Amino acid sequence: MSANRKLKLGVLASGGGTNLQSIIDQCQQQKIDAEIVLVLCNNPAAGALQRAENADIPSLCINHRDFHDRQSFDQKVVAALQEAGVELVVLAGFMRIISEVFVDAFPQRIINIHPALLPAFPGLHVQKKALEYGARFAGCTVHFVDTGVDTGPIIMQAVVPVLDDDTVETLSARILQQEHQIYPKAIQLIAEERVSIVGRRVHINSAAAPETALINPPL
Ligand code: GRF
Repeated sequence: MSANRKLKLGVLASGGGTNLQSIIDQCQQQKIDAEIVLVLCNNPAAGALQRAENADIPSLCINHRDFHDRQSFDQKVVAALQEAGVELVVLAGFMRIISEVFVDAFPQRIINIHPALLPAFPGLHVQKKALEYGARFAGCTVHFVDTGVDTGPIIMQAVVPVLDDDTVETLSARILQQEHQIYPKAIQLIAEERVSIVGRRVHINSAAAPETALINPPL
């Protein structure tokens, strides 16, 4: 991405939106070369809508309850994202499984954050599951989204310890702190066009490599 060009993000959320807030803050502080062009929620009561309004970011609520199937809801969401010129779809606590209609409209351009170290503990209530399992470490994962549940190629992970006196709340808070760190970092890597997918693996290219290749082209 060239110097002044900003990657256009569409952030989808269903709840409080602390991950959204960390992305808003990093964009405002120009720590990432991105701008949020649309915040989209499926839940009219989502705190994320208020956060968007506070930051003067266009927002939209499309209530999934108004649609009789997943595909027609997804079509409406895709149309709104396309109309806003979204280049990267950022799922931030978006509690809907997305269909092929959505994935095909943004190939390799949808990312999600999950509060566990995938592939362990996909799905819901994963902090509780990690505690109950007796895992010594937990964490979070930023990954590309495919049509499975939390199955897409992994971009970045952060690890936190599970402490003896942890409750679901204390462990979730420790994980969330890391989420707020790695999600903007992963977005920045994508903005810098340093991320590529090879099979299931995500390669992060070093920042200097493209210039080196240009200065010394193979003869
Ligand atoms: C986060 O734990 C995220 O990993 C999960 O949903 C939660 C959203 O939290 N997908 P918030 O709405 O960003 O505060």
